[in-house]
Amino acid sequence: MTVQRGRHFLQIPGPTNVPDRVLRAMDAPTIDHRGPEFATLTLSILEGLKSIFQTAGDVVIFPSSGTGAWEASLVNTLSPGDKVLMFETGHFAMLWQRMAKTLGLDAEVVPGDWRHGVDPAQVENRLAADRKHEIKAVAVVHNETSTGVTSRIPEIRKAIDRAGHPALYMVDTISSLASIDYRHDEWSVDVTVAGSQKGLMLPPGIAFNAISAKARAATKSSRFLKSYWNWEEMIAANKSGFFPYTPATNLLYGLHEAIRMLLEEGLENVFARHARLAEAARRAARAWGLEILCLDPAEYSNTLTALLTPEGHDADRMRKLIAERFNMSLGTGLGKLQGRVFRIGHLGDFNELMLAGTLAGVEMGLSLAGIPHTKGGIQAAMSYLVDPHGKEKDDRAASNIQRTSKTGVSK
Ligand SMILES: Cc1ncc(COP(=O)(O)O)c(C=O)c1O
Repeated sequence: MTVQRGRHFLQIPGPTNVPDRVLRAMDAPTIDHRGPEFATLTLSILEGLKSIFQTAGDVVIFPSSGTGAWEASLVNTLSPGDKVLMFETGHFAMLWQRMAKTLGLDAEVVPGDWRHGVDPAQVENRLAADRKHEIKAVAVVHNETSTGVTSRIPEIRKAIDRAGHPALYMVDTISSLASIDYRHDEWSVDVTVAGSQKGLMLPPGIAFNAISAKARAATKSSRFLKSYWNWEEMIAANKSGFFPYTPATNLLYGLHEAIRMLLEEGLENVFARHARLAEAARRAARAWGLEILCLDPAEYSNTLTALLTPEGHDADRMRKLIAERFNMSLGTGLGKLQGRVFRIGHLGDFNELMLAGTLAGVEMGLSLAGIPHTKGGIQAAMSYLVDPHGKEKDDRAASNIQRTSKTGVSK
């Protein structure tokens, strides 16, 4: 195997690059998770998470991947046979739906083309037709990591309200939390599902549920058997800063630091940074002449961009060449998009020069793989990053006019 030097570019849409500050924070002796120092750590983290999820309610932390938090959202609030309204936005939405079916829920899936988010009008129509209120939950993936499409969570909330339907609203924010604006309370979400390995800039291994009062109340009538995922035991133990079983202690050190970093930057700035870098990536894509999978600009993802390769050109072959030659990982096409799509992750601990390096790797990979494209994607991205509002040109034009009027001669 060839030895590769320099830092690996981990540009899959999660797990993301773990910042040094988080790595250093985790590099510490594991402490007694039943001791006072640990309780202080937990209570501080639980407080910080409220800011990240934008909620005043309960947030629970499981030592698990995001899939565990999916399961927790369903088994704590629902009962076998309950109807759940789900949407085919992509690979992850379909996995959540498969889990719901496996658990014995009646998952009704609104079909989709994997290029659009959830349509609020469809939600409203379906719920309005459900006069007997058989649908107990509406489950939406906020940012479909397989397609780079972001569903409009507040608009879907309004659609549920317009239909006057009491279903619980569950949202998967695994690849959006702490990167794309998300407000658990303001948007009246009942259960938010999240994971550590994307916007939170941690390694994989912990997952979250933010829980509304309505979702908490639903646990009383839930008839699913649950033990590991039981919110009530978790919330009771968390009150004094402890867990009902052994928590992921060192990941929690990392989480504590990651929350500090996010709040230092300010969530607004975190969202703006992701929006800026995402727009630059899309400009590169357009300059290359590659098609963005997401069809509606209002639903472009700010955490990843999925690009289609032209018919007959295998995206995975290009990804492999890039990994071998330039030490960079890009996301593969998932499910039915295998070979047709590659995904550029631009989230987490990520900045302009990391994006430029990433785009350089892609542009070289396109050439190596013989994929038809126009050169200059990086230039398009750089021009945008230097001058996002197209101001530079206007300012120059304005100062030229001033100079012309003073001297009568344009310099
Ligand atoms: C949107 C979304 N939902 C769910 C998952 C599954 O999470 P995990 O792989 O951590 O179990 C992922 C993983 O990437 C995801 O991106």
